[in-house]
Amino acid sequence: MMSVNELTIRRPDDWHAHLRDGSMLRAVAEWTARDFGRAIVMPNVVPPATTVSDAADYRQRVLDALPEGCDFEPLMTLYLTESTTPEEIDRAASSGFVKAVKLFPAGATTNSDNGVRDIDRVMPVLERMAETGMVLSVHGEVTDQDVDIFDREAVFVDQVLDPLRRRLPELRIVLEHVTSAHGVEYVLSADRNLAATITPHHLVLTRSHILSGGIHPHYYCLPVAKGPEDRKAIRCAAVSGDARFFFGSDSAPHPDAAKMRAAGSAGIFNAPTALACVAAVFEEEGSLDTLETFVAMSGPAFYNLQANSSRITLCRREHPVAIPERIMTEDGPVTIFDPGFALYWQVEGRDGQDNTTF
Ligand code: DOR
Ligand code: ZN
Repeated sequence: MMSVNELTIRRPDDWHAHLRDGSMLRAVAEWTARDFGRAIVMPNVVPPATTVSDAADYRQRVLDALPEGCDFEPLMTLYLTESTTPEEIDRAASSGFVKAVKLFPAGATTNSDNGVRDIDRVMPVLERMAETGMVLSVHGEVTDQDVDIFDREAVFVDQVLDPLRRRLPELRIVLEHVTSAHGVEYVLSADRNLAATITPHHLVLTRSHILSGGIHPHYYCLPVAKGPEDRKAIRCAAVSGDARFFFGSDSAPHPDAAKMRAAGSAGIFNAPTALACVAAVFEEEGSLDTLETFVAMSGPAFYNLQANSSRITLCRREHPVAIPERIMTEDGPVTIFDPGFALYWQVEGRDGQDNTTF
């Protein structure tokens, strides 16, 4: 087969990103905006964005953090709490800029304390979401400490997600950052209203990367990377062209000091290398032909949005692209995701502007 050195595709989007707030937001926003036209912006800032008014303010802070003239479009989310009202969902649905509501099981991950403890308590809200077509974005892990951390996604799928979908089949759900073969199989078993995002790091890592040859805090995130069979299933799903699987970086910056302490924070800052990593994986799998579907087409289709009208050109360089190890922020250095292999793909150019009007 002829090797491909240049690929022009629709401008990609990131369907799951943590852009943070304040000085961290100002340091990281441009990295997501560089390669992606839009991003679903996670609401687990401090305090969480629980209302449409919070999301509007946060959206403005994101826009203010972008470089001059940048046409990146932040797609906002609400942080679901047990106090969220169905009326808030109506406001979200008519806002135009809130595209999903995020379910964090309380205690599952970073800034999830205000999340949901008892799903029964949010049923009226979920029902309104099903009626209005608002997407539920799910962190799919149970929080029961008795469940092995490597099984928490599978147990969530069986004990929470499947019963919820049976109760409310019209609810449109994204199982975020799917990490297990079981999660992939479950998404494949659903003929509608269910999709999953896949991160660059879960396409690359297994738990051995985190735990073998010394402990690697910069490979630690939640859900934690699983075994080789799981990674194989995720790769297979990503390159398959199946519209139920699309790209979400889960780029989640933490200052290095927070990652390296005894109870280090979960999260991988991958925005600068995300697209190059995904391109490398697709190339390795012999599937560069489905890259555009994964990074630019299936996400907007699920969210009932148009794909970006502009295009980018990815070039495969002859020599590895030099990537900085970290960025400097007012909160200290933040390490950039290093997949452990050289990266050759780089965005060379873009044609056209995308619409940012609502
Ligand atoms: O590793 C993670 N980091 N997983 C999450 O679900 C949250 C994220 C964060 O906000 O740091
Ligand atoms: Zn996340």
